[in-house]
Amino acid sequence: MNYLSSRSGIVLAGGNGTRLAPLTSAISKQLLPVYDKPMIYYPITTLMLCGIRDILIVTNPHSFELFKALLGNGEKWGVNFGYAIQDKAEGVAQAILLAEEFIKNNSIVIALGDNIFHGNNLVNLLRYADKRIEGGSVFAYPVSDPQNYGVVQFDKEGNILDIKEKPDNPLSQYAITGLYFYDNSVFERVRELRFSSRGELEITSLNKHYLNQNLLNVDIMGRGIAWLDTGSFDSLQDASGYIRTLEQRQGLKVGCPEEVAWRQGWIDDKCLESLSVSLMNSGYGEYLLMLLKGLK
Ligand code: G1P
Repeated sequence: MNYLSSRSGIVLAGGNGTRLAPLTSAISKQLLPVYDKPMIYYPITTLMLCGIRDILIVTNPHSFELFKALLGNGEKWGVNFGYAIQDKAEGVAQAILLAEEFIKNNSIVIALGDNIFHGNNLVNLLRYADKRIEGGSVFAYPVSDPQNYGVVQFDKEGNILDIKEKPDNPLSQYAITGLYFYDNSVFERVRELRFSSRGELEITSLNKHYLNQNLLNVDIMGRGIAWLDTGSFDSLQDASGYIRTLEQRQGLKVGCPEEVAWRQGWIDDKCLESLSVSLMNSGYGEYLLMLLKGLK
C-alpha cells in the first residue's frame, strides 16, 4: 500500500451537535460510538487511506482534552496529530483559518468529523483527487434528501452550474459530501467570504469561490460507495447498523486506523502487537493480532 500524500489533513470535530442532544450535552458528537469505534476514527482513517500523516483535529473547547486522551499525538498510529480549538460554532470554513499555522504552505484535505465513507473504489477516488495540484476537488453523491446538504446543479453536459447550501427546491439529487481537497489558496479565499444568514462561514461559499474561477472539480461518488451521515438519532443508528453488518459478515473492520497504519507501513508488526494489548477484552485487539497472523 504505502501511498504518501504531500497534503496535510484537517478533521473538523467542533460544533455543538445540538441535533443529537442530549447525547451531545456532555460529550462531543464525534466521540460517540459508531458500532465498535468512536466516530472520529472513520474520518481519520479516510485521511490515512489518502496517504495523509499530518492531521489537525479541530475540536470544541469542552471536548478538547477528551480527544487528546483518545488520540494522543498520533505516534501510536505512525501519524502526527495537532489540535486546535474552535471557540464558537461559526462554520466549516471558519475552522480552516485556525489551521493556517499547522498547514503552512501545504495543500489540504478537510474531512468533516461526522462523515463516514466506505466502498471499493474509494481509495482510488481519493488518490486521484489528491494528485490534482491546483484548485479544489469535492465529491457529489446521490441522496434521497438533498435539501439537507450542499447541492450541486449540473447542465446537460455534466458541467457544474451552481452549488446551493440546503436549498428548499434542490435542482439535483447530488449532495456535496464532507470531504474537501483544496490548494493552499484556500486561506486567502476564506478571508474573502462573508458570514451567511445562519452566522457561519459556509463551506459552500468557499466551493463557489473556487467554482467562480473555474477551479472546482466535482467527482461523482458512484452507488458502489457508501457515504453515511450521522447527524440525527436515526442516521447514527443506521451508520452503526451498516458497519456492524459489514464487519460481522466479512470479519473485516471498517475505519480501523491501526490496520491502515500497519498496511501503509507506518507502524511495524511489533507496534501493532503492542496496540492490541489494551484492546483484548473487546475483541478489537484480537482482530489486530489476526492481521499479524495473516488471517485477514
Ligand atoms: C455541511 C455542509 C454541506 C455538506 C454537509 C456534508 O452541512 O455545509 O454543504 O453537504 O456538511 O455532511 P452541515 O453538517 O453543516 O449541515
